[in-house]
Amino acid sequence: MARIFSGIKPTGHLTLGNYLGAIQRWVEVDQHRAEALFCVVDLHALTVEHDPARVRRLSRQAATLFLAAGLRPDLCTLFVQSHVDEHTRLAYLLECTATDGEMRRMIQYKEKSARERATGGSVRLSLLTYPALMAADILAYGADEVPVGDDQAQHVELTRDLAVRFNQRYGATFTVPRAVLPPVAARVMDLQDPASKMGKSHAETSGIVYLLDEADVVRKKIMRAVTDSGSEVRYDREAQPGVANLLEILAACRGGEGKPEELAAGYSSYGALKRDVADAVVELLRPLRERHAELCADPEYVDEVLRAGAERARALARPRVDTAYRAIGLLPPV
Ligand code: TYM
Repeated sequence: MARIFSGIKPTGHLTLGNYLGAIQRWVEVDQHRAEALFCVVDLHALTVEHDPARVRRLSRQAATLFLAAGLRPDLCTLFVQSHVDEHTRLAYLLECTATDGEMRRMIQYKEKSARERATGGSVRLSLLTYPALMAADILAYGADEVPVGDDQAQHVELTRDLAVRFNQRYGATFTVPRAVLPPVAARVMDLQDPASKMGKSHAETSGIVYLLDEADVVRKKIMRAVTDSGSEVRYDREAQPGVANLLEILAACRGGEGKPEELAAGYSSYGALKRDVADAVVELLRPLRERHAELCADPEYVDEVLRAGAERARALARPRVDTAYRAIGLLPPV
């Protein structure tokens, strides 16, 4: 059976981008057909300026949302990264496999470090080494597939390179994984700025739909989405990025019935398209918000899921990480 690993970092409230780009597929497909692990990758949230209490709160919220979205602990393993030491143990070996040039070439590093420096901030060393930790997340479990949005594809490519290099130098240790992108909505764009990704840690929030936004807030954000100067509804990412984004969101909410270009043919005005997108997103998120509220009333249940998930994840990761320690030349403990 294929093994799948994926994760989300608790740097902000989860967005429609996280849902359509990743979680939806985890729930509807991945957990049913493979041995799947889904992780709140909290250590990754420490790579940028952070507030400890907020990271703790967002980690719990993300885990609760995983369950609310429909991940089932009887079908998959849900856990928090920092509860399983194997991630950091392996990350160090992968830092010893990667080069600093490889890390500096990562688009996310370039963008985030440039933004940080432009505002007078300093760049944490862990922002540079982040992809080694992400590679460890994946390789520790021998994952074959990594379902992610488009922005993570480069990190998964690097993970593949590190796995191949480690295996060549020290003997077959790791499965070489591949990224699996959703067929539509692999990159949901900001509703106010369709040139940038809808990102959970952006300061300007009017173009971001959060999974826990109230229905009227969701509707307002979508009805105010920036479209384009024409009035024709066409699916053209270059010429009409705002409209294309709405069409992709609609196609993804409808679970793949109809491609964005086919849906475009059914609209003669932006207003009608926006109304249908708003209805579709509100309907998609309603059960998730309701289930989230129920789960918040039962924190012991969430704790138990995370405890059992970490135990299982540890048992899966430890033997492979131990093998990697031996393979790279470290003396076994006596
Ligand atoms: P993160 O937390 O930024 O995002 C979590 C997942 O959501 C996807 N995503 C999107 N998809 C479509 N449109 C968007 N606007 C959008 N925004 C986010 C991301 O592609 C991702 O799949 N480095 C990772 C977390 C991570 C990870 C891992 C993922 C750490 N270790 C191991 C997979 C496997 C990240 O920052 O994702």
